[in-house]
Amino acid sequence: MGTEIYYFSGTGNSLTVARDIARKIDGKLISIASVVDRGNIRTDADVVGIVFPVHFSAINGIPGIVQRFVENLENANSKYIFAICTCGGFSAATIENLGKIIESRGGELVAGFTVQMPSNIEAVSVKEQQKLFDEWDNKLEFIHEFVKARNEGEFETMGLPLKIALAPIFFYYKNKTFNFFKKISESSDSDFKQLIWLSDKRFYTDDDCEGCGTCSQVCPVNNIRIIEEKPQWQHHCEICFACLNWCPNGAIHGEWISEEVRYHHSDIEVADMLKQSSFKD
Ligand SMILES: Cc1cc2nc3c(=O)[nH]c(=O)nc-3n(C[C@H](O)[C@H](O)[C@H](O)COP(=O)(O)O)c2cc1C
Ligand code: SF4
Ligand code: SF4
Repeated sequence: MGTEIYYFSGTGNSLTVARDIARKIDGKLISIASVVDRGNIRTDADVVGIVFPVHFSAINGIPGIVQRFVENLENANSKYIFAICTCGGFSAATIENLGKIIESRGGELVAGFTVQMPSNIEAVSVKEQQKLFDEWDNKLEFIHEFVKARNEGEFETMGLPLKIALAPIFFYYKNKTFNFFKKISESSDSDFKQLIWLSDKRFYTDDDCEGCGTCSQVCPVNNIRIIEEKPQWQHHCEICFACLNWCPNGAIHGEWISEEVRYHHSDIEVADMLKQSSFKD
């Protein structure tokens, strides 16, 4: 019985959304990273919320760790399951794709919402960020009422006409993204998840790194070891960009990552991020 809100977040947008909704509906906030590798996941809750950032909407939009979590859900049947994805602009068919995975586990996604938040891969002005935060405040009320009433059938996902119209563009971007990650991961693996894990090979630090360890602490999947006062990435990266965005000195870079963007949600602090990691829950 009860309500559980599972979340994954790199720069705090999804954590803010998850925390706000959990407070409103009196749900328990649970980090996906803290449970995902425990094998089959059972929950006693009758209401389950899943909150996560959109990663690569041209692939399927669902971060690998979130996909693993849903695939490991053992008793998804007969629960009221809703999802909220946060995105920087376009979530495409993310909600629909998540719904299909939940269905394959014997459950049903009864509603799925898309919340636009400041992108953590493209620069967004402070004014535009504030506008998006205000929009979220309004949407929070709507989702709260919707879930409280146990309504069903709201799916903020790409409709069929758009899907057909965008199919060639998505096909192009999918191939481009695969080839790009094969290059930066120095791998010919055809499994996108494996390429993403290895993509941390292109992270590096500059002389401003003072070995404080924040990057290692905020990494939700403990993918960073501090060795001789420098971070070393361990190649099971979920590409959430927490490390480079939370580094107090802006000392982490990736040769393909914009230097213009160093962002995290203003309501979230390092201490909030620490609760997410599997070893620190
Ligand atoms: C690797 C990566 C891929 C992303 N891909 C998309 C995308 O395809 N579409 C989109 O709208 N936003 C995309 N984003 C932006 C995030 O979805 C957005 O900023 C999200 O709110 C971040 O949430 P978080 O702070 O909880 O990590 C991407 C972000 C990252 C790090
Ligand atoms: S957070 Fe930044 S300064 Fe601290 S160890 Fe990591 S890279 Fe270095
Ligand atoms: S290494 Fe950085 S980008 Fe990769 S999962 Fe950890 S915090 Fe996220």
